[in-house]
Amino acid sequence: MEGRLDIEAVRGQFPILGRSVKGRALVYLDNAATTQKPQSVIDAITGYYAGYNANIHRGIHTLAEEATAAFETTRETARAFINAASTDEIIFTRGTTEGINLVASSWGRANLQPGDEIILSTLEHHSNIVPWQMIAAEKGAVIKVVPIDDNGVFQFDAFEKLLSGRTRIVSIVHVSNALGLIHPVEAVIRAAHAKGALVLVDGAQSTVHLDIDVQSLDCDFFACSAHKCYGPTGVGILYGKRSLLEDMPPYQGGGEMIREVSFRGTTYNDLPYKFEAGTPNIADVVATRAALDFMTGLGKSAMRAHEDKLVSYASDRMREIPGLRIIGDVPGKVSVVSFVIEGIHPQDIGILLDNQGVAIRTGHHCTQPLMERLGLPGTNRASFAVYNTRGEVDALVTALEKARKMLS
Ligand code: ALA
Repeated sequence: MEGRLDIEAVRGQFPILGRSVKGRALVYLDNAATTQKPQSVIDAITGYYAGYNANIHRGIHTLAEEATAAFETTRETARAFINAASTDEIIFTRGTTEGINLVASSWGRANLQPGDEIILSTLEHHSNIVPWQMIAAEKGAVIKVVPIDDNGVFQFDAFEKLLSGRTRIVSIVHVSNALGLIHPVEAVIRAAHAKGALVLVDGAQSTVHLDIDVQSLDCDFFACSAHKCYGPTGVGILYGKRSLLEDMPPYQGGGEMIREVSFRGTTYNDLPYKFEAGTPNIADVVATRAALDFMTGLGKSAMRAHEDKLVSYASDRMREIPGLRIIGDVPGKVSVVSFVIEGIHPQDIGILLDNQGVAIRTGHHCTQPLMERLGLPGTNRASFAVYNTRGEVDALVTALEKARKMLS
């Protein structure tokens, strides 16, 4: 037992954790890139293909009805998971990236005018920068960027100064993927709404760690990915307030998103199907329900308590390593310890750690503007999930000590 959860029992649900890498037991600390999958998720995928594979919303035969019911049950599970008011507000996408692209493209094309302003922060992932740059270039809108301090902390006062009567949308990451810092999204949303601007919250890194209640947050859009939440790749959830989604034009055209098509013109389907053109990723959406149930079963607060202890223990032990500097070493973060070791390129550390069975991510973490601001080529990032242990933190520290001695 580590805390309130039986971590060995949790680990037992993840078959991959039993494998070895380069002759050592795998220590998987790249969970912010993607988490591993419990057996229930793997079984849900094979169960769909082996038992009721069929296209959804189209057939009247039994398999089609079973597949449609399983798909729509996940939509209801996802609604409850983030406390949306209605399943009409839950759109399945390929991931957070597609969710943000959908909003930037559909809402942006219909609503942005030349000179309108979009606010982002220095900490954004490329997927919450580039879609906005693309639509801003098309519509003549202007992007404003909230600065950070040297620790990576979002500067709220500067954000308030950037807000203006021209601000149309603020798109902000809830938890920084590179540093793990939690952003004050509630205050951002209140301040943006007071100026009449909308807010999109990028929940790619927060959904697995924090309780998400889109109604109490009062965000206008919320995007996340199943694969960072113990679910399959290729599935995202986009939440949008009904009134906004209703007024937005479709993102893609095709089957399923229409009511009636003729060469004289086409009318579109109701929410949420208006935004789900074509055959979706049915198997993985069905399996996403198992991932959401896995987290609900353990309880977010128990998971978070365990992960917080790991982050705190790892930070304490890593501070003892000569030349190691934690980036974003401030309170109010989840799951991530990002660090550099003086004089050693992150990639070299990553390779030597992999030789010892320890998987971390190295590089710019798809946050090049953040790295530029911090004056770093990249960092090493260890990121924790509910199945990680103190013993694995010790293995990381031992591997780091060895790598440092070899490289310095
Ligand atoms: N966005 C993912 C990460 O931070 C891939 O690693």
